[in-house]
Amino acid sequence: MKVLVVGGGGREHAIVWKLSQSKHVDKIFCAPGNAGISEFAECIDTKPADLDALLDLVKHEWIDLTVVGPEDPMARGIVDLFEREERRILGPTKAAARLESSKAFCKDFMKRYNIPTAEYRTFPSYMQAEEYIRMKGTPIVVKADGLAAGKGVIVAQSHEEAIEALHLIMRERAFGSAGDRVVVEECLVGEEASFMAFVDGRTILPMVSSQDHKQVFDGDEGPNTGGMGAYSPAPVVTPEVEARIMKKVMVPTLKGLRSEGIKYKGILYAGLMIKDGEPYVLEFNCRLGDPETQPILQRLDTDLVDIALAITDEKLREIDLKWKPGASVCVVLSAGGYPGSYEKGMPIKGLKEAGELSDTVVFHAGTAFNDGEVVTSGGRVLGVTALGADIEAAKARAYEAIGKISFDGMHYRKDIADKAIRRAL
Ligand code: AMP
Ligand code: GLY
Repeated sequence: MKVLVVGGGGREHAIVWKLSQSKHVDKIFCAPGNAGISEFAECIDTKPADLDALLDLVKHEWIDLTVVGPEDPMARGIVDLFEREERRILGPTKAAARLESSKAFCKDFMKRYNIPTAEYRTFPSYMQAEEYIRMKGTPIVVKADGLAAGKGVIVAQSHEEAIEALHLIMRERAFGSAGDRVVVEECLVGEEASFMAFVDGRTILPMVSSQDHKQVFDGDEGPNTGGMGAYSPAPVVTPEVEARIMKKVMVPTLKGLRSEGIKYKGILYAGLMIKDGEPYVLEFNCRLGDPETQPILQRLDTDLVDIALAITDEKLREIDLKWKPGASVCVVLSAGGYPGSYEKGMPIKGLKEAGELSDTVVFHAGTAFNDGEVVTSGGRVLGVTALGADIEAAKARAYEAIGKISFDGMHYRKDIADKAIRRAL
């Protein structure tokens, strides 16, 4: 079978790596891919937003299955397009992907079905939002309605910060039309966790839990990023908490969508705040998380193609997911300056040595070749991911591998998974 993976970050490297182990797969294409991905896949220089070019590629190469990494192609309707052409693709339709592509839609949807989430209001104008912020006080959370690559959410501690965020979104239009509307919501406290499930429209098959680290610096300081590291499992998601997530979040979401005539197929990701054992939804994503996918797929024993085919054929109930015991930890190495401006083209040393450590995979997020040498080409550069008997062992192995890697300006958090380790003590 020939498979196409759309995207070119750490998540897509993990997907390609996992697909390369499938008994069904003869050849993998990846658009656009990166230096690490090229070890397993033929990288095609096509942008994930160019849906027509991707469809042409699938037709021309007789590709049997397409797996989409990022949200943008889904929000643009890649699944609708491919399904119209009777091409097998893993992901939700444009209507279903609105759970991620419009925060206002998502919040209204949760309200309709009593899914626990922060209290909120949506505003189409700056003035009304400003008045509401003044009335509510701080801390408060200001969110651009549309897709903003994880950067359109500002947790404001002071009134000035909240107004600045509103200005950035609605007046400076930092996120373009994503800022036509803002959602202003109550600030929740607790511990965050990511809960992802495979979904075929009816059956929900939860993956093991995970936790991301959004802020750029140790101790959760500094601005939010795409994610600086992740681990699985997340001890905050106990079996009781998982049961509550299924009952209060996942099942009502799928039922709610179905009652509105939307069949959700693919991956449903709930970003949660767990407070006193109760889950509250911060956001839904219509795809695998990045970097959560790296530790999760490292732990997955089931063939990913079997899962993908079961989803598209709506036979997910026949799949029994198998996971490696223990834990996996992924630490992201980023370019100096990220999530602000940063340089590209820095040669990366030590990749081979790090990859030779047992149970360790160095996933590439933003890398390219320059004269045969691997160089940095993005903000998040690598995701060093390691398995261990427990989180502590996995963390030690990941940091040991990092000790072998270097590039100019390399930055990483030293405290990935510490929360989980403290919880286990
Ligand atoms: P989102 O993209 O909506 O998940 O928001 C990105 C990040 O902002 C989350 O992972 C949280 O760290 C934070 N966040 C979002 N909404 C809230 C909220 N209501 N209360 C506290 N933190 C939040
Ligand atoms: N790691 C968070 C996300 O993928 O949105």
